[in-house]
Amino acid sequence: MKVQIRAYVPLITTILLFSDCSTIKNTAGGGVPSLKETYKNDFLIGAALGARYIQRSDLRADSLIKRQFNAATPENVMKAGIIHPGWNTYRFELADQLVEYGRQNNIRINAHTLIWHNQLPGFLRNMEDADSVRAFFESHISTVASRYDGKVYSWDVVNEALNEDGTLRNSIFLQKLGPAYVTEAFRLAGKAAPHTELYYNDYGIENPRKRAGAVALVKKIQAAGIRIDGIGIQGHWQLGKVPYKNIEESIRVFSGLGIRVMITELDLSVLPEHAADPYPHGLPDSVQNNLAREYETLFRLFLQYRKQISRVTFWGVEDGHSWLNDWPVKGRTNYPLLFDRNDVPKKAFYSVIDAGKK
Ligand code: XIL
Repeated sequence: MKVQIRAYVPLITTILLFSDCSTIKNTAGGGVPSLKETYKNDFLIGAALGARYIQRSDLRADSLIKRQFNAATPENVMKAGIIHPGWNTYRFELADQLVEYGRQNNIRINAHTLIWHNQLPGFLRNMEDADSVRAFFESHISTVASRYDGKVYSWDVVNEALNEDGTLRNSIFLQKLGPAYVTEAFRLAGKAAPHTELYYNDYGIENPRKRAGAVALVKKIQAAGIRIDGIGIQGHWQLGKVPYKNIEESIRVFSGLGIRVMITELDLSVLPEHAADPYPHGLPDSVQNNLAREYETLFRLFLQYRKQISRVTFWGVEDGHSWLNDWPVKGRTNYPLLFDRNDVPKKAFYSVIDAGKK
């Protein structure tokens, strides 16, 4: 028996010598390459983490997350409605857990989000009095942003403030505080979180009219002498309709403002917007291949702008828990991410890895 083992030693040594160690170390998916390793000289690779991952109730996904990602955004737990449910009530437990998870696993946390018109606390929703809205606005930003200063890497300070035509969305903040609220949010966040990067985040800002609105917003903040460090293009796109030209132009224009550009909520819906549920039992190969091709094209584009792009974050970990199974139609079966419902890498995963090998 001893002799036999010895005979194998040179063979094992040879295998170890000629293998990529980052692949060998993987226990979660034997031999699966790593996104964060592949793109380590280009940009951070992130995922939005829902409560199930933050609470570590899904251990299979947990090892995938640690192996694949070096950035994370809370999918919901730092939104005002959850973290600040009552006037004087804050619930920090899950957000704190995420921050600790990031610290332990070298995952940079992008906190999301301070000022947004959705997922607001109930007490705010029908508030008539402008002074009360202002009191919420000020105490929310300073309490939450200061708690995590130096602990999170960045904040999406304002989320989705723009309409498709580039004008400001008619949110409770615009109605009660006027158009200066965006700049004011950045001022308050900068004061509360001087060690944290501050970003504006929105969807569809790659499209020319909305892009012009975003540029105007950033310039206004800068002209007021207030810090803004970056802009997030959410990247909720649809298979067959990815606006590559507009994305490229936006990366150029936004980085020309002297701020970082990020893709912050990437997913590619494979379902036509209002179709019923065309693929409840699995994705046809032809669509799977299209998804892989479009992801590859996107990452090749991102790599061309690796100097301007600091992070690419997917909105979720695996298809089974993507928000796109319930939006814009509830209860469909979507396949927008790189990992399938069993956490197995899809063809699209390998095409992103191939793009990254250059
Ligand atoms: C979504 C979450 O993924 C869902 O779980 C939640 O029910 C609604 O919000 N733009 C954003 C994100 O900035 O915060 C949204 O997240 C998706 C669209």
